[in-house]
Amino acid sequence: MNQDELKQAVGQAAVDYIKPHLDDDSIVGVGTGSTANCFIDALANIKHLFDGAVASSEASAERLKSHGIPVFDLNGVSGMDFYIDGADEINERLEMIKGGGAALTREKIVAAVAKKFVCVADESKLVPMLGTFPLPVEVIPMARSHVARELVKLGGDPVWREGVVTDNGGEILDVHNLRIASPMELESSINQITGAITNGLFAQRGADVLLLGTQEGVKTLKA
Ligand code: 5RP
Repeated sequence: MNQDELKQAVGQAAVDYIKPHLDDDSIVGVGTGSTANCFIDALANIKHLFDGAVASSEASAERLKSHGIPVFDLNGVSGMDFYIDGADEINERLEMIKGGGAALTREKIVAAVAKKFVCVADESKLVPMLGTFPLPVEVIPMARSHVARELVKLGGDPVWREGVVTDNGGEILDVHNLRIASPMELESSINQITGAITNGLFAQRGADVLLLGTQEGVKTLKA
């Protein structure tokens, strides 16, 4: 199977995973990216089994709506059982780097509300140590240079993702050359930088379950 087929397999596996738990009142939290898109497309086949979705980006909201799946504002939702999303990197503790699609802040917010985070990824995303993928940090635009200087002090090489404006009006710094031995600590340290909105480390709220697409089939890993 090629990478696209692995993504489709885990998208379907995530639907199979949540399906027994859905009812008319269920709200499904939906992530962003090419793997999340495969999940959305598979979810459309069971749209009669749940109430609607909360999306972590405008792009995912549009894709959900194109399938006729109602999309709700998170503020109008009291909770949700599942959040399903991809990752740029994930380790065996199910800590992740996310934000390659610049949706990290909304992803982190929806994940915080959900009882269970189900990560869907092809096997290329599973790594022994996070940090080969540059760590995205969303910043308030006027703070970009200040945050970049602080990130250098933490040992990284931040690069402005020029031309990208997030759904929240923020900008993105991609931090290269970090060897992330302690993801939870680094997540906290970056959160302390004034002007940083969110960083793409999902360690304090990592995934609960990983559905990993491999040549031997979809494997289920738990935190
Ligand atoms: C978007 C994300 C995505 O989940 C991440 O970039 C993985 O995307 P893909 O499934 O396309 O590889 O965090 O902000």
